Amino acid sequence: RTVYVNGEYLPEHEAKVSVFDRGFLMADGVYEVTSVLGGKLIDFEGHAKRLARSLSELQIRKPMEDEALLDIHRELVARNDIDEGLIYLQITRGAPNDRDFIFPPKDTEPTVVLFTQSKPGLADSPAARTGLKVISIPDIRWGRRDIKTVQLLYPSMGKMMAKAAGADDAWMVEEGAVTEGTSNNAYIVKGNTIVTRHLGNEILHGITRAAVLRFAREAQMQVEERAFTIEEAQDATEAFITSASTFVMPVVEIDGAQIGAGTPGRVASRLREIYIEESR
Ligand code: PDD
Repeated sequence: RTVYVNGEYLPEHEAKVSVFDRGFLMADGVYEVTSVLGGKLIDFEGHAKRLARSLSELQIRKPMEDEALLDIHRELVARNDIDEGLIYLQITRGAPNDRDFIFPPKDTEPTVVLFTQSKPGLADSPAARTGLKVISIPDIRWGRRDIKTVQLLYPSMGKMMAKAAGADDAWMVEEGAVTEGTSNNAYIVKGNTIVTRHLGNEILHGITRAAVLRFAREAQMQVEERAFTIEEAQDATEAFITSASTFVMPVVEIDGAQIGAGTPGRVASRLREIYIEESR
C-alpha cells in the first residue's frame, strides 16, 4: 500500500512519524474518514469543511488548501486502485523536539498522514441484511465531541464491551439520553418519523447524517432532531446508525430487546438504498 506522509508518497513500511509527535503523545490531532464508491469520493467537501473547523477549534494550523487535500485523496485512490473503501486522514499539531504540555511554537509543521483501506463489499454489506445488535454504555467522553479528535480510546473500549456482550456496537448515554454510537450517529424511527439527536457539542456532526436527513426530507419523511432515551429506542419501530464507513446500517436489537420485527426496517433500508444510489 502507498501512504502519504508530510508531502511524500511512500510504501507503508517506509512511512515514519516522530516519537515526539503530539498526536502520539497527547492525542493532539484530528482526523477524517471519507468513503469511496466506484472509485469516487463521497462528500469530500463536507469532510474538508468539518476538518477545517476541527483544526480551527483546536488552533492547529491548516497545512494546505482543500484543493491540495483533494489531490492527495485522488492520488491515493488511484495509486492503491481503490474501488470501494475508505481514506483515513490525520493531522496533528506536529512534532516538536520534546514533550511539553504547552503548545509548540506556531511555526511547527503539522503532521499530515493519509492512507487507504480497501473494503470490497462496503455497499453490498451482509450486515445491512441482518442488522446490528447494540448495547448501551455511559458516555464518559470529553465535552467537545463535535471536534473530530483522535482521542478514540473510550469508543474503542465501547466496541470491545459490545463484542464481549455478543453485540456489534454500543450507543452512549448521557443524562438519560442517547448521544451517539461509538463511531456513528444514532437514529430511531417511530411510525413515519425519524428521530436523531440534535446537533451540539455532545455529538459529532456526521457528514453522512447531514446527507441522510436531506434525502429523508426530500422523500417527504418527517425528521425530529431531539434527544431520545434507550427505552424510547427499544419501543421504536426501527433503529439505525450512519457513518462514512457503514452508510445507513439497521439496528435490530438494543440491550437485548428486539426492535420492531427484529429485522432491518423499511425506512432504514430505503434510506440506505437512496444514500448509495445518490453517492455512486
Ligand atoms: N466515525 N459519531 C462519531 C463519534 C464518529 O466517530 C463518526 C464517524 C460519526 C459519523 O460521522 P460521519 O458520518 O461523518 O462519518 C459519528 C468514523 C467513520 C471513524 O471513526 O471511523
